[in-house]
Amino acid sequence: MAASPNPLSTEAFLDELTALRTKAAHDLRSGVYGQPTFLANPDGTEGQRRPEIVFLLQLGVYPEYRETHFLSRQVQRLDDVDLVYRIGQQIFDEAKHTKVLVDQLREWGADPFPFWEQPIYQWSAAFDYMDKQIHPAEYFVGSNFIGEGLFLASLMAPMAQHDPETFRVYVEEIMPDEPRHIAIGKDIIAKYCTTFELQERVRRVAGTVAKQYCLGFEAAMQFAAHAKAGGNPAELRDRIGVGSQVAAV
Ligand SMILES: [Fe+2]
Ligand SMILES: [Fe+2]
Repeated sequence: MAASPNPLSTEAFLDELTALRTKAAHDLRSGVYGQPTFLANPDGTEGQRRPEIVFLLQLGVYPEYRETHFLSRQVQRLDDVDLVYRIGQQIFDEAKHTKVLVDQLREWGADPFPFWEQPIYQWSAAFDYMDKQIHPAEYFVGSNFIGEGLFLASLMAPMAQHDPETFRVYVEEIMPDEPRHIAIGKDIIAKYCTTFELQERVRRVAGTVAKQYCLGFEAAMQFAAHAKAGGNPAELRDRIGVGSQVAAV
């Protein structure tokens, strides 16, 4: 049997994954997957009266809640006390993120859970995929290194830059925690991805999650624009079968 090729060095492998994430972030920021129309607020209308803002917070409950659950399972697969401690802290952070979004929506008089209980498929697909990953390096490359890295670059940074008041909950209570979470992903990749086989598996997960993130972002932009135009995002979700195009509706 032929021996496996040598693995990349940790540095070279992280560089490769970073380049993959940078390419996706660039595509997202340059409008390949749609423009975030919700950042424009020329009339200065407050967030709770803007259906696209209520929708985005409702959509945002999903990743926070799901990550709280994921991490609680993944932490059992690690035997490094320092990482377990840091992930324990992240579980608290993600539960807090869920709660601050839910509290904000309740304060606005909106239902916090329509897209948690009945998710928009394009948005939830990446999470279903990540939940299938067995090795911690596969999970943490997908969720922390790629997913949270892209979320920070494509949504939270623009929120902070263009409309920090409307997105106060994100900018003040969620965004500051994200660099720590991304760093956990990076450190787990560096610690465990020392074989050719695992690098191959992790490379595949990174590419798949980056792709799914972009498609989820694209759906989010389309649903937010639909809400902004006076449509009901939950009805739009119900009219789209799995595999059909949002744009075709
Ligand atoms: Fe979070
Ligand atoms: Fe996070």
